[in-house]
Amino acid sequence: MKLIEFKKYFFNVLSSNYDAGELNTIFYLFIDHFLNISKIDFLTNTEFKIDQENLSLFKKKLNELKSDRPIQYVIGEILVSDLTFIVNENVLIPRPETIELCEWIESFNFQDVRILDIGTGSGLIAIFLKKKLSKSIVDACDISLKSLEIAKNNASINNLKIDFFSLDILNDSLSRNRYDIIVSNPPYVSLCDKDKMHRRVVEFEPNNAIFVNNNDPLIFYDQIAQKAKESLNKKGFIFFECNSDYINGVNDILLKNSFSNIEIRSDFRNNKRMIKARNG
Ligand SMILES: C[S@@+](CC[C@H](N)C(=O)[O-])C[C@H]1O[C@@H](n2cnc3c(N)ncnc32)[C@H](O)[C@@H]1O
Repeated sequence: MKLIEFKKYFFNVLSSNYDAGELNTIFYLFIDHFLNISKIDFLTNTEFKIDQENLSLFKKKLNELKSDRPIQYVIGEILVSDLTFIVNENVLIPRPETIELCEWIESFNFQDVRILDIGTGSGLIAIFLKKKLSKSIVDACDISLKSLEIAKNNASINNLKIDFFSLDILNDSLSRNRYDIIVSNPPYVSLCDKDKMHRRVVEFEPNNAIFVNNNDPLIFYDQIAQKAKESLNKKGFIFFECNSDYINGVNDILLKNSFSNIEIRSDFRNNKRMIKARNG
């Protein structure tokens, strides 16, 4: 089959799952990953063909996409700023807002700092910061042993040395080291909002990475701020990604724990999502 015909087939099969813009993005990610054919290659050569073996594989992959399995899990990896992250159902798919949080931290050009990433998932924040702030020492923790395995592997394939450890931030203390920066993108979607979320997220991404109890949606911020207070060096920084609906609540938690110089930052959709504060 010609690749150009497969594109039509791909769009037909998935037309009720995605809009045309999304389908374009997914199609080019798909052929780039499985055939090593870039969008430019595809647009400038209409003669590419798919052999029978690949066609059978692609039909299986199309069925996965049709069932709403996210493209990143179907492909099994995502590229972020020249870094490769292996992803599967055990880790949250890296989000653009979180990459913005990483870039914000990078922009301060911290030197010789020790950083802790709490709830590391795929290792996105820890790995990004270790790569960009190369003189830093980076530690990262998560409650999920399966996500820690993936994060370790991701650090290793990107040739970065990070100390990963298992920790339940709601119940364990943070006694291992002192840090200059503590960063976290913790679970922050209230369970009551689950119904409003897409099947692709709810059915496939790890729910314990996303949802918090309705009674206490800020529990992670509260616990992390209290524990960070003990582990951060004086004048060290805490950075959070937040639900924009709760940013004022996070601000109050930071004030309650005597953090100062609080700064709130909006993401590319103009939602107030990131917050930074100084210890003392
Ligand atoms: C929103 S995800 C963030 C993942 C990754 N840092 C990112 O930004 O893509 C939250 C992470 O917190 C972890 N987590 C959930 N409960 C936790 C707990 N009690 N202690 C430590 N980590 C927890 C989840 O396993 C998940 O990896």
